[in-house]
Amino acid sequence: MVEVYSEPDVKKIVVVGHVDHGKSTLLGRILLDTGKIPADKVEHVRKTCEEKRVPFEPAFFFDALQEEQEQGISIDTTRVNFEFDGHRFLLIDAPGHIEFLKNMTSGASEAQQGIVMVDCVEGIRAQTSRHLKVLSILGIREVIIVVNKLDKIGYDESVFNKLAADLADLADGEGLKCLKVVPISALLGENITKPSENMSWYNGLPLLPFILKVKEETLDFTTGSEPFRMVLQDVYKFNDKRYFAGRVMSGEIAVGTEVFFSPSGKVSTVSSIETFPQGSRQKAFKGESISLCLSEQIFVERGEVISSTKEVPEVETELSARVVWLAAEPFNPDNEYLLKIGTNEVKCRVEVVTKPGANKAPVTVLNNGDITDVKITAERQIAFDRTLASANLNKLVICSKYETVAAGVVNLKSGRKVETPVADPNVVWEQGYVERAQREEQNGHKGAVLWLTGLSGAGKSTLAKSLENYLFNSGYKVVVLDGDNLRTGLNADLGFSPEDRTENIRRISHLAKVFLDTGFITVVAAISPFQQDREQARKTIGDADFNEIFMFCPLEVCKSRDPKGLYKKVTTGQVSNLTGMSSPYQPPANPALRLDSSKMTTREEVTAVIDLLVDNGIVKGDIKVAAITPQEAPVR
Ligand code: ADX
Repeated sequence: MVEVYSEPDVKKIVVVGHVDHGKSTLLGRILLDTGKIPADKVEHVRKTCEEKRVPFEPAFFFDALQEEQEQGISIDTTRVNFEFDGHRFLLIDAPGHIEFLKNMTSGASEAQQGIVMVDCVEGIRAQTSRHLKVLSILGIREVIIVVNKLDKIGYDESVFNKLAADLADLADGEGLKCLKVVPISALLGENITKPSENMSWYNGLPLLPFILKVKEETLDFTTGSEPFRMVLQDVYKFNDKRYFAGRVMSGEIAVGTEVFFSPSGKVSTVSSIETFPQGSRQKAFKGESISLCLSEQIFVERGEVISSTKEVPEVETELSARVVWLAAEPFNPDNEYLLKIGTNEVKCRVEVVTKPGANKAPVTVLNNGDITDVKITAERQIAFDRTLASANLNKLVICSKYETVAAGVVNLKSGRKVETPVADPNVVWEQGYVERAQREEQNGHKGAVLWLTGLSGAGKSTLAKSLENYLFNSGYKVVVLDGDNLRTGLNADLGFSPEDRTENIRRISHLAKVFLDTGFITVVAAISPFQQDREQARKTIGDADFNEIFMFCPLEVCKSRDPKGLYKKVTTGQVSNLTGMSSPYQPPANPALRLDSSKMTTREEVTAVIDLLVDNGIVKGDIKVAAITPQEAPVR
């Protein structure tokens, strides 16, 4: 029997709001209007109301259900199931207290959307933003705001419109996308299942039809089109075979798929999928605990995230997150904490971020239950998924030596803004008389950019120089733009912060474009650690001319080579921010070529690149000289 992690056809929505704002009334009303309450129970509640001379109130169904629960019938009043128009829904009632947040953040991701209840008589209160924050902490990105008790203000359109606009702004400020603000009266059942005559001015869908529409629109996302994610729990060795064990957190995996390990960047192909005790399988799905056997033996540690090479998670050493402080122990900015995402753990520092414009002194005091944005600086890079909530890799936990101190979600927007400079509008491009095509014809070959990316010591410069030598001696126009060399002049003002690296790559890509337009085969050798920067370079240069070549080499091998002594200097503290150590390297998932310099000779690498150039029609394969380096490349 396959263990089902979550039922994909049930739409789960978290509901937050104050009881006084009508949360129980709404949940009771939904049960009533969707026929979930047996007729005798409805009658019972009506009669009781009459006897006690209190108005009939749908929230009383909860009390009735509660009674049944006390009689031993298990009904969970915090999880309301119902069916509407043949579709199944689960409303998860989220009380604001800490224990609930603790379980929700560390437990399975349950919902993509949330409902916030607001009382139109009370309007926006401090707790309204707390409720929105609670949703964002649960990893929810989209919210439906339900404005209740419209009957109490005579269904006044203008009051609603003003409140709706303010609420949408508030949600936006908390990083939540407001899908709709729906006016209702839960007590009287107005605008719940069908349009309300009293609110004919409202031209949106009533609450349940709207939820249904949201369900239909997000159907693909919840059923199998998600990317594959598996968190590596352990690696077992058995009969000389290695088994990579874990649970499929999202998507599915099949034998023959090329898989990618983050943050190490290692790649292999699934040769078999094993389950115990059932045996081998061709495919495995979300929720299943499996072991993968791989076609190549690779060495990775517990905590790595396995994905397909097509859709990989992010890796970073710095990330911004929204967390709830869960500990009695106060926050201490000088403490070393442990960051946990999936099964990965890494030491980190935590800094509380004061919201821009808040004009407050930096926050250093956090009390139990406080919700805040933090910046986390990890000692090593860690993999996560900012946007894919279903794999739970957007959730994190921070621990001190003694306990879990905070839980939360990675912020949707990365902490670092990459701003591409824009030229003065009075600057005009001067078109030359000689065109690229003419140059290429005269050169006898086309131009291209070969963008070599990889860790320091991975062999980028060696390959770049060898390619240059080989192509030059065969009569090709070729130039090398080496990161180190450019940093001695053009880029001498730049250091190794993420911002400076982005600027470095921006300048190199524009320079590469100049050479490309001059008809050169332009070889760039730069670490270029950020995916986003390489994508920007691809745009600057043009997709057709941009050939990303991943110089893969395991960090351990780069460390042992250490051609510039940089890795050694990390241990003595003379170098900080070294890529792969305390600064991230985000490996390309779909490079035009992936060369493993720990296994290939320079000659083999050059041959692979020349083959790529021949395939792309850049060179004709008429390479004249046999020697790759002046002395012929030594075999590594
Ligand atoms: S990039 O990250 O901005 O693309 P680039 O390739 O230009 O880097 O420069 C990397 C070179 O700078 C390395 O080959 C190395 O010699 C030198 N270097 C010095 N400090 C660092 C560091 N902290 N991280 C990476 N490279 C460094």
